[in-house]
Amino acid sequence: MFAFRELPIDQGSSVVPQSDIRLFLGNTDEAADLSTGAELGPEERARMEKLQDPLLRRRFGVRRRWLRRLISAECGIPEREVDYRVNRHGKPELVDAVEAAGFHFNTSTSEGWHAIATSRTGPVGVDLEAIGRQVNYAQVLRLAASAEELEWLDDAQAGTFDLNAMKIWVAKEAILKAAGRGLSVNPRRVSLPRSLAVSKTPGRWSEVLVPGLAGPFWVQILEREQVILALAQAEPKP
Ligand SMILES: CC(C)(COP(=O)(O)OP(=O)(O)OC[C@H]1O[C@@H](n2cnc3c(N)ncnc32)[C@H](O)[C@@H]1OP(=O)(O)O)[C@@H](O)C(=O)NCCC(=O)NCCS
Repeated sequence: MFAFRELPIDQGSSVVPQSDIRLFLGNTDEAADLSTGAELGPEERARMEKLQDPLLRRRFGVRRRWLRRLISAECGIPEREVDYRVNRHGKPELVDAVEAAGFHFNTSTSEGWHAIATSRTGPVGVDLEAIGRQVNYAQVLRLAASAEELEWLDDAQAGTFDLNAMKIWVAKEAILKAAGRGLSVNPRRVSLPRSLAVSKTPGRWSEVLVPGLAGPFWVQILEREQVILALAQAEPKP
């Protein structure tokens, strides 16, 4: 049983100045059923009701309750009063409440796994993939990776292609989610350092610049439980 909980991460103060980024991970399929919908907002309830598959409906309900509970605990807002709006690319943000000023969060889901990243120092992005999920990464990366990144993947040890491809994919998505843009930006525009993509020692911050997006961004990749996960932070605006 894997309860929803905070994971230790490298704060890497020399690369990420004064980051207070925090990471939480849980498996919604192993959680108590919190999905009645009663504590959710009207938009969340409408979204939940549209989900025909009971498993997907339950997962949505549990992860939104986790998010509400976390924001409530961190910002001192009653759970039912947590209110979101989304930017024009779909990134949820808190509707201004004095207690929530400067509170950033982002979420990612794969199979039953759910991650939430939070920070008060700058926008954050998180992306996760459940290990073993049936995805054709070679095909995904033909669209998302640069020629150089594809070369590293081919050069790496035999049998590591899918794992390294997942790392490249989650790192790019986390950066674009920290930027608030998601896949409205072509992931090829994000060039990762080789050390990050094929590193045998995950969990270190790397700096990444993305042409056309305000940065720099800091990104780190983690392998935890049965997931590969990337955490990114955009440099706070002065
Ligand atoms: C963000 C995005 C990459 C998520 O893809 P994914 O890998 O399928 O899903 P994940 O589980 O990792 O992330 C989903 C979460 O990301 C967040 N999110 C959505 N859009 C986001 C964005 N532009 N930036 C950052 N985070 C975003 C939401 O919290 C969402 O959670 P929810 O489904 O519970 O609401 C994808 O939705 C996207 O590219 N959206 C932007 C495209 C766009 O511009 N759309 C315009 C119309 S809204």
